[in-house]
Amino acid sequence: MAIKNIGILTSGGDSPGMNAAIRAVVRTGLHYGMEVFGIHRGYQGMIEGDITKMKTTDVSNIIQRGGTILKTARSKEFMTDEGMAKAYAQLQQHGIDGLVLIGGDGTFRGAVNFFEKYTIPAVGLPGTIDKDLSGTDFTIGFDTAVNTAVEAIDKIRDTAEAHDRLFIVEVMGRDAGYIALNSGIACGAEDILIPEMVTDIEHVLCRIDRDERRKKTVHILVVAEGDDFGGGAKVTQTIKDRFPKLDVRMCVLGHIQRGGSPTYADRVLASRLGHAAVTALQEGNTQVMAGVMNDQVVFTPFNKVIKGTSPISPDMLDMIRVLAS
Ligand code: F6P
Repeated sequence: MAIKNIGILTSGGDSPGMNAAIRAVVRTGLHYGMEVFGIHRGYQGMIEGDITKMKTTDVSNIIQRGGTILKTARSKEFMTDEGMAKAYAQLQQHGIDGLVLIGGDGTFRGAVNFFEKYTIPAVGLPGTIDKDLSGTDFTIGFDTAVNTAVEAIDKIRDTAEAHDRLFIVEVMGRDAGYIALNSGIACGAEDILIPEMVTDIEHVLCRIDRDERRKKTVHILVVAEGDDFGGGAKVTQTIKDRFPKLDVRMCVLGHIQRGGSPTYADRVLASRLGHAAVTALQEGNTQVMAGVMNDQVVFTPFNKVIKGTSPISPDMLDMIRVLAS
């Protein structure tokens, strides 16, 4: 049966490009003659019925904006049977018979639980700065976040050089090191610590010692917040304890990585996937996430997206230490 009314939501941590995705979904839906409903504040707004009909002008002038006009949330209530029942009742009340879900790992975990109980066609879009989903080469927001980190680390290097300082820069990534890895490589970091690799802190300290001896005065360490040794703060304290004479500073980039105008790459990815998601819904290809692999749009079932991993290429890991020496 043809889908008439689609609901769209953004959930979990926001990512630059979500607005471009919303725009593409709304305009593609309207193009196919569907009604499009914006569900505000993710699954929490679905539970509370915070749902409004959208028209084409609602998504004018947003392609270049960070954040999400639909707002987002991490809903604990949606993890409960009662929460899911309320959410489904709201969808029925609004006549919503198809969903487009934009978010990361938590969003798709929520979706899998929900669809075990309730039947409603849905397509997902990968919206997270972390790039920790399988079924796509890139996620919406990752490119922008890495560019933001690169710009910041370049600036830190200027001041580090001026003062002969060692800097520890902590970037986002609770479970995934893609931002740390890519920004670290792009900025010529001396070391990069990521959750996917066990941190050999002695090796890090030996490198600092060696660089000290040969009078290499600037040292930038990029650390993902989820690094197993304990993140930027613990790495910084350990270095200070071992090298009390070194001038050491830490900078946590934090949520600036989540904001800002999306890069062209994120705008194009979001537009392409938003269009593909609604087309897939219309064609009956559902309970899948739309992604891009090898420059082709591909669809991966939700349960594979959350169970799969997105391993970091070993050549990238080998490269770090060679290039930094
Ligand atoms: O999932 C995206 C992300 O930015 C992670 O990199 C980070 O660990 C987390 O969200 C932070 O979440 P919150 O904004 O809820 O503190």
